[in-house]
Amino acid sequence: MDKNPKDLINAFRKEKTTNIPFWFMRQAGRYLPEYREIRSQTKNFLDMCYTPEKAVEVTLQPIRRFGMSAAIIFSDILVIPDALGVDVRFEEKKGPLLVPVQTNDDLERLAFKIEKLEPVYEALRLTKKALPKETTLIGFAGSPWTLACYTVQGKADRDFQQVRSVALRQRDFFVKLIDLLTDSVIKHVLQQIKAGAEVIQLFDSWSGVLSEQEFSEWSIEPTKKIVSAIKAQHPEVPVIGFPRMSGSKAKTYARQTGIDAISVDASMSLEWIKNELQPVCMVQGNLDSLALAENKEVMLAQAKKIISTLGDKPFVFNLGHGILPHTPIEHVQALCDLLKNGTH
Ligand code: CP3
Repeated sequence: MDKNPKDLINAFRKEKTTNIPFWFMRQAGRYLPEYREIRSQTKNFLDMCYTPEKAVEVTLQPIRRFGMSAAIIFSDILVIPDALGVDVRFEEKKGPLLVPVQTNDDLERLAFKIEKLEPVYEALRLTKKALPKETTLIGFAGSPWTLACYTVQGKADRDFQQVRSVALRQRDFFVKLIDLLTDSVIKHVLQQIKAGAEVIQLFDSWSGVLSEQEFSEWSIEPTKKIVSAIKAQHPEVPVIGFPRMSGSKAKTYARQTGIDAISVDASMSLEWIKNELQPVCMVQGNLDSLALAENKEVMLAQAKKIISTLGDKPFVFNLGHGILPHTPIEHVQALCDLLKNGTH
């Protein structure tokens, strides 16, 4: 029997857990009919994030069905630009659309209004009360680089070349933007911890487009500041960093940022993770979301390989990226059964 009922927290404390703790990025989402039901009652995705009862309900849905080790609060990384005064919209089937911020004048109009995010903190407080005692509550934020990608370019893109160009050509502007985003992320995560978040994950979904020098400057440095601000007030709160598609640069990130765990994507070699990353930092990952959606047998074989390669050390099982909307529930169920039935 574990002393603390929360196996995710025990993993961070390097204590032995009965099973490998697990949760999935985007575990609340369109692959669940009960999510689609709530979503169909709300026109606007951001309204759903800002209605505590709805945010709590969809946060709890996957926990009720599958009993993951952790619930991640239902929200979005783009609530930070929204609270800064950037016009943020979610268009059906198109994803997010923002009015781009590209000049010092645009920047001067922005100010972080934390009051706007009060419904997120209320949702955290209510979720904390409703969760089973063994379930850990995770809060999150986008990392400054990834937030800058959407804020400067206004929408998703393959390589965010325009943002890198802005960073190269208008360095003063870009430094100010990153500083503003870093400051806002710090305020947002500290408030989430006050409201009950027990672990924080930082999503740097687009760190993979950066050169080594840029990665150090725009991903590692801001993350380091955020982690030290969290640790200064809450040394007990673990931070998970997710520098997606950063390849071998993930090792420097794990060493230099001060994070407690690194979330790795499915492109990374398990042997490399075992030999190069696990000695430096606890690892979370890295099942291929597409395999989970498309082929149950292939997916279960991959999951077993991950467990046998990485499961001897403290480890958190997760996906390499979020659950895809067309994922069959039965595949997720089969994966959860595997994870709950004797991974250790
Ligand atoms: O993981 C969870 O279950 C918690 C909730 C969560 C959402 N977004 C809900 C969401 C989290 C942690 C995020 C993070 C997020 N949001 C990231 C980082 C992780 C990643 O995926 O790389 C990014 C880049 C965003 C920005 C964003 N939000 C995009 C690009 C989209 C559109 C893509 C899509 O799937 O529609 C969103 C919308 C969004 N955020 C949805 C959900 C459940 C789908 C909205 C809907 O229901 O229509």
